[in-house]
Amino acid sequence: MVDIKKSWDKIAEHYNKRYEISCDVVHYGPLCPGEDRLRLLGDIKGKKAIDLGCGGGQNAVALAKLGADVTAVDLSTEQIIQAEGLASDHRVSICLKQADISSLSFVESQSFDIALSACSISFLERIDPAFREAYRILKPKGRFILSDMNPLQYLLDETESGVVFNNPYHQKSLPINWTWEFDELNRAPRFRHYVRMISDYVNSLIDTGFMVQKILEPESTLNTPHKGFSEEIMKEYPYIAKHIPITFVILCKKP
Ligand SMILES: C[S@@+](CC[C@H](N)C(=O)[O-])C[C@H]1O[C@@H](n2cnc3c(N)ncnc32)[C@H](O)[C@@H]1O
Repeated sequence: MVDIKKSWDKIAEHYNKRYEISCDVVHYGPLCPGEDRLRLLGDIKGKKAIDLGCGGGQNAVALAKLGADVTAVDLSTEQIIQAEGLASDHRVSICLKQADISSLSFVESQSFDIALSACSISFLERIDPAFREAYRILKPKGRFILSDMNPLQYLLDETESGVVFNNPYHQKSLPINWTWEFDELNRAPRFRHYVRMISDYVNSLIDTGFMVQKILEPESTLNTPHKGFSEEIMKEYPYIAKHIPITFVILCKKP
């Protein structure tokens, strides 16, 4: 049995220490250029922004430094505690909430200009409820930027004899179980990702009512604000990292 909240609670502190994610530049995912190069946000000074699945709060802090009025939500209580510490270290004010992004009843409808969700969506078994909530809480013309790791990254494996597919790409919410080793922990917590095709994300966003404006699949780069994890992937899966974009970004707009 995988309890994703408990697992993130266990690793939160160690994860944020190990992976050294920037609080100065908004990141979209490992091996992906950050906002300093992609320029997806535009001027967000004074805008209301929400980070869905904020983790340790690095993007929330970076958004606040750009002048946005930031709310950030995460399922893990320990990640929220990490984010509180980070906000205080960087002297920014962020409204932090522990919640499931599929159910944001405490957030008023049509109250945000921009929603961002980086590297969290594939932990959800069902994406439609989270997309419906993102749509509901955005103002008309509000933007949703969704990013995560390329599904192929979870399906491919790099072995001595070459790259192999562990599972076919044509899957709808394929659960993949794995453990995450941390020296600080006696037992490696268990995690589960749900792998789906990029078309599933796009079609679900369209069905929710979003206008999908652009999909980015940037070539892998170590010039990224998501430093530590990028270096780890490049070391363990160099061939895959050099041959597929490790992170994808989908830009959408509420009509
Ligand atoms: C890989 S971290 C990414 C965090 C952050 N967005 C970033 O890019 O650094 C994934 C986060 O998703 C959160 N998460 C997983 N399922 C969630 C859910 N249903 N609702 C809210 N957060 C969730 C986890 O607690 C974890 O902090």
